[in-house]
Amino acid sequence: MRVIITGATGFVGKALSSNLLDSGWEVIALSRSQKKAQSVLGDKATVIEWDGTTSSGWARAAENADAIINLAGANLSSRYWTSSYKKEMWDSRVYAGRAMAQAVMRAKRKPKMLIQASAIGYYGSRKDEILDEHSGKGEGFLADLVQAWETSTEAVEAQGVPRLIIRSGVILGKGSVIISLLQLPFKLYGGGYPGSGKQWFSWIHLEDQIRIIRFLMEGSQIKGIVNLASPEPVKMKEFCRLFGKVLHKPMWVRVPAVVLKLALGDMAKETVLASQKIFPKKLLEVGYQFKYPNLEPALADSLN
Ligand SMILES: NC(=O)c1ccc[n+]([C@@H]2O[C@H](COP(=O)([O-])OP(=O)(O)OC[C@H]3O[C@@H](n4cnc5c(N)ncnc54)[C@H](OP(=O)(O)O)[C@@H]3O)[C@@H](O)[C@H]2O)c1
Repeated sequence: MRVIITGATGFVGKALSSNLLDSGWEVIALSRSQKKAQSVLGDKATVIEWDGTTSSGWARAAENADAIINLAGANLSSRYWTSSYKKEMWDSRVYAGRAMAQAVMRAKRKPKMLIQASAIGYYGSRKDEILDEHSGKGEGFLADLVQAWETSTEAVEAQGVPRLIIRSGVILGKGSVIISLLQLPFKLYGGGYPGSGKQWFSWIHLEDQIRIIRFLMEGSQIKGIVNLASPEPVKMKEFCRLFGKVLHKPMWVRVPAVVLKLALGDMAKETVLASQKIFPKKLLEVGYQFKYPNLEPALADSLN
């Protein structure tokens, strides 16, 4: 079995590549840096250097591949959203997606499927509304970006290649962005919750993220869009309380929304202050059993 992964050096890609390599899959990683990718992924992975935007130099690898998994893109939550970074986040995702579609178009023997990364940012901020895969797009820059990102690989469907879109909640696990960001203030007794704390926080553990990608690759009944989030979202205040509990540290500061908006601009409004109560309807319908349905054990594992 042969898989092409873009963004294989990232938080999800690295775990996924190692999981597939351990199962004897051939992993072809497309990275903007051969040297970095080889050091992150080791010798068992085949690395092809690409420009992140076209199919030149790697399109032949797509011939008859068992899957293409497109994870690449400039990180959505690790930097301030200046207008130039917004453009980088947008372009890096849309151009990478179009490159996947270009390679599929050129392949004589088409890849068997394409898995397109996506994010629950698609739904915007929706208070207490329950959001399943049939819910419509929300408002804001992130929702617009996610829509353009998802659309970037749509053309593969006309080539007869099934496409799964994995709309993930915030992914928890050792080394995830949110765990790294919150750990220090909590450890220094400055742990708190953002805004009113009443906004819904939808999350998934990295292990479930990887297990679900494999489940989809290995022939589940699911088609199209799939929400990757635990069936137990929590309100943000509860998330931060449990974060403190697992670290044996108190949560006592409330970080007002106005302060976050001043510090983080649009990113605050569309990420930490946004309310998204995600329901993984399709996964539950096919009987997928989450390893981490509840938050406390997921945090305990992530913070251990
Ligand atoms: N982590 C989460 O909580 C979360 C939640 C929802 C959705 N997602 C999405 O799932 C995917 C994987 O997430 P992740 O956390 O593993 O992401 P990540 O750690 O930020 O890794 C993304 C990878 O994309 C490549 N990349 C970075 N900047 C790029 C650019 N300007 N142009 C082209 N490629 C670029 C990099 O690979 P190279 O340097 O090797 O090229 C990088 O390793 C991402 O698309 C992410 O948005 C993540």
